[in-house]
Amino acid sequence: MISVAVLGYGTVGSGVVEVFRQNQEKIDRCAGDQVRIKYVLDLRDFPEDPVQELIVHDFEKIVSDESVDIVVEVMGGLEPAYTFVKRSLEAGKNVVTSNKALVAAHGAELLKTAKENHVNYLFEASVGGGIPIIRPLVSSLTADEIEEITGILNGTTNYMMTKMFYEGADYDEVLKEAQANGFAERNPEADVEGMDACRKIAILSSIVSGKQVDFRDIYTEGITKITVQDMRYAKQMNAVIKLLATMKRDEEKLEAVVAPFILPAEHPLASVNGVFNAIFVHGNALGDAMFYGSGAGKMPTASAVAADIVEAAKYRNETICEYWSGERLELESRLDVKR
Ligand code: HSE
Repeated sequence: MISVAVLGYGTVGSGVVEVFRQNQEKIDRCAGDQVRIKYVLDLRDFPEDPVQELIVHDFEKIVSDESVDIVVEVMGGLEPAYTFVKRSLEAGKNVVTSNKALVAAHGAELLKTAKENHVNYLFEASVGGGIPIIRPLVSSLTADEIEEITGILNGTTNYMMTKMFYEGADYDEVLKEAQANGFAERNPEADVEGMDACRKIAILSSIVSGKQVDFRDIYTEGITKITVQDMRYAKQMNAVIKLLATMKRDEEKLEAVVAPFILPAEHPLASVNGVFNAIFVHGNALGDAMFYGSGAGKMPTASAVAADIVEAAKYRNETICEYWSGERLELESRLDVKR
């Protein structure tokens, strides 16, 4: 039996519990063992929800329980998430997370801690919601040099911009809708100012380069200045406006930027609408590939988290992949953004 502790019963945490309820048999079959959620850590109680019997309020109970093999950090934010993840890894527990802020800020260090303790720090859900992108990059495409990644990596802003483009919807109203649907970050500035997409492209850039790409080095501009009038102009030009996160690299340098771009209507990313994300990847042997799917929301994100739990269960005593080292990659130059 493999025991799991989920830190946080918010949108993603409750989704993970639901995926386990729905797909328990498949999860056990793929993990090759029974995988059970033993604890759910939250400050609140949920008297009407069967999850209540799993609720604990004290992290010490989890970290000191030797039977816990996998800790799922879906709290978000840097603290106390960082401390809980670090202590879990040091205690020899695998950690699975959707927390891109933490992966972008402390990924190299936490990956090193995982390796030192012969466990894994897995974060498929941190980029692209339910879309598999991290594992394909480190397994199926591991022999390719990845030269370009260009993606719509933020579901909230894509949802907002789609509504503004096709329905002339008001910015504030669509932002509220995205929040109500559970797509937006707790602090929606991270979405609309481009920081969420910036952290995601920093994670992907670190994976493909094998070195730490600091998200603070990436030129980032969000959608706060985009108006319905801009959308009308784009339409007249048979184009659309999309918030893109892009990274280009060769042997010598890596360039990355997050900003709204005007795309011709026939561009493959132009028809990616609503909360969907898409990630275009160019490998030197592969050529082009495109990953497309639900980029945010409770169940798609929980699907990626649950898949990582199965992966952690299968390889719980060996580190599958170190992803990237602590060596910092200086961004040679920033892309010149012309809009
Ligand atoms: N706020 C994020 C988004 C959630 O809208 O894409 C998924 O990372």
